Amino acid sequence: MPSLLLLPGDGIGPEVIEQVRRVSGWMTAHGNFHLELAERAFGGASYDANGTPLTQEAEAAALASDAVLMGAVGGPKWAGVARGDRPEAGLLRLRKAMDAFANLRPALCFEALADASSLKREFVAGLDILIVRELTSGVYFGEPRGIETLADGSRRGVDTQVYTEAEIERVARVAFDLARGRRNKVTSAEKSNVMETGVLWRDVVTRLHARDYADVELEHMLADNAAMQLVKAPKQFDVILTDNLFGDILSDEAAMLTGSLGMLPSAALSYAGKPGLYEPVHGSAPDIAGQGLANPLAAILSFGMALRWSLDRPDLEERLSAAVRAALDAGARTRDLGGSDTTQQMGDAVLKALAAQ
Ligand code: IPM
Ligand code: MG
Repeated sequence: MPSLLLLPGDGIGPEVIEQVRRVSGWMTAHGNFHLELAERAFGGASYDANGTPLTQEAEAAALASDAVLMGAVGGPKWAGVARGDRPEAGLLRLRKAMDAFANLRPALCFEALADASSLKREFVAGLDILIVRELTSGVYFGEPRGIETLADGSRRGVDTQVYTEAEIERVARVAFDLARGRRNKVTSAEKSNVMETGVLWRDVVTRLHARDYADVELEHMLADNAAMQLVKAPKQFDVILTDNLFGDILSDEAAMLTGSLGMLPSAALSYAGKPGLYEPVHGSAPDIAGQGLANPLAAILSFGMALRWSLDRPDLEERLSAAVRAALDAGARTRDLGGSDTTQQMGDAVLKALAAQ
């Protein structure tokens, strides 16, 4: 039986993961679907209970599952904790341990939400972008890093941006492969005008393209320009291939185009046969945590991505996406989408739409 490990985490994480439990329960009851669900404390919740954001036991459970679904991590409560024990550090450790290097962040504008975007409807209606973000290297993991005190008593902070050819090539391959099943275009974003890693990135992508993917349209774009083009004319993009840090920033920006950060799912994939890590793109939203106001759709759609990429049930992913679309068409709206539905009511709307299929 396929297995899914739930890591609700912090803030709104437990509330949105609860709705995933309901959806998965519905599928078990009605979709000829069998899934072994397990759960572990993660992030700040694990730090409070175990003194570490990710226990070795939870890490081993993740590696032994077919898929892992995280809610959210972090919050002001752990702001004073040493960096290595912060909730976010647990997430980075998990991504690294799972070797989940290819982060797929689709930005899809649902028709019913085209007016919820901060851009005019004509710019976002029908928008369908896929950001492929490198997730296990770059400045997030580069050494040396740290804050040191200089001889004059002032401090100096260091981060290191580092990429190997192999790291760039494997994630670029994922982007090209996925583009072939879409509109066949890859935009590779880096800062080759100022960064050595950017020069290497462009070179590796160019060579791989010429060697194995000449049928795919490839465009190089400086990351700052990509940020600008995303709000100017977002529909020019199909697949955006980029590094860990630029991908973090560009995916928040792309998410907002679709109406709300509360809508965007993600998948982080490793090699075939290894578990995938699924996360809503949104954070822990401590300001609304525990109030039943959070939008569970990003988590529900992340579960959908797990059904497709790790749990061998693309048919159920399609049903779930259709149910989310139907729930939105029927007017279900949490606060982030300009409505007043609760987290539970949004979950109800999705379950109702599933039942009506
Ligand atoms: C994301 C988040 C994380 C990141 C944080 C929580 C470590 O912003 O998944 O986009 O920066 O990768
Ligand atoms: Mg982010």
